[in-house]
Amino acid sequence: MLGPMEIPRETCLLSGCGYTGARLARRLAPPVLGLVRTGASVAALAQARIPALAVDLDGGEPLPLPDRLGAVAYLAPPGGSGSQDERLRHFLASLGPVRPRSVLYLSTTAVYGDTAGAPADEDAPAAPGDTRARQRLDAEGQIRAWCGAREIRWAVFRVGAIYGPFRLPLDRLRRGEPVLREEDTGPGNRIHVDDLVAACAAVLEGPAEGIFNLVDGVPWSPAAFADRVAFHAGLPRPPRIGRSEAEPRLGPAYLSFFRERRRVVSSRLAGLGVVPRTPEAGIRDSLREMGLESPGA
Ligand SMILES: NC(=O)c1ccc[n+]([C@@H]2O[C@H](COP(=O)([O-])OP(=O)(O)OC[C@H]3O[C@@H](n4cnc5c(N)ncnc54)[C@H](OP(=O)(O)O)[C@@H]3O)[C@@H](O)[C@H]2O)c1
Repeated sequence: MLGPMEIPRETCLLSGCGYTGARLARRLAPPVLGLVRTGASVAALAQARIPALAVDLDGGEPLPLPDRLGAVAYLAPPGGSGSQDERLRHFLASLGPVRPRSVLYLSTTAVYGDTAGAPADEDAPAAPGDTRARQRLDAEGQIRAWCGAREIRWAVFRVGAIYGPFRLPLDRLRRGEPVLREEDTGPGNRIHVDDLVAACAAVLEGPAEGIFNLVDGVPWSPAAFADRVAFHAGLPRPPRIGRSEAEPRLGPAYLSFFRERRRVVSSRLAGLGVVPRTPEAGIRDSLREMGLESPGA
């Protein structure tokens, strides 16, 4: 356990400080502390001047967590084989008597399950359709119960597919890989990482609480999104492929992302002062940051 002299009282703990966490760490007012699994991730974060510890959130031992914190953002995916998130349970148990001012949990839009294409806002019932989504719903319940018992402010973000710099399908496009035809996928639900980060900062540093859907509200299909990435990166438009043809080429894990059809709507994001950028703007911003925006686009 780190002592009170080593961790400033207002430290924001980012548990699962990966792609989103690193950008959030840069956005928040210091002090922040990231938790990651590997020493390589600690070293990568150190390069960006983000302090981090390598821990195993799944380990049997209590985690070496600071004994006082300003806020907690939990950004790690679920762990465990059943429909409960045992990884989060272990983390919350390790917090022990620590009472942060607020807790933010990043969940996914998968908790709404398959709505047959119908819109789902924050008031729609959760209907998880697989084990992973059930773990997410369990995790949301753990956060609410843990915070509720301690009168700690909590927020749950149900996040769509996160894209941004270095998270675009550029390698697939360069390899000329096909994408599923529009009629074989549901609407897309996605968010640019920096809009997600702005919303995270708003709840960690402000008074908002409750459940928020984190999507940009533009339901471009994966094929339409890939087309626009290709256009702005100066790459060939990807060929289309049908579901039956795709199974042996793209694999069942990839296809499972497109099994459910839901159109997620955010009715509360504006209340955080965040107006998400369109995917068109988000793709261009991302490519520009990577130095890859095509001059002809
Ligand atoms: N990516 C998406 O499109 C998407 C969509 C909806 C929701 N989400 C959720 O949003 C959250 C943030 O997403 P992201 O893409 O930013 O995540 P990410 O880049 O995959 O980062 C996850 C982080 O969690 C750490 N981690 C995982 N298992 C751990 C363990 N057992 N012990 C310690 N650390 C562990 C990883 O450490 P290492 O770096 O050392 O491995 C990594 O830093 C995740 O919960 C994700 O599932 C993602």
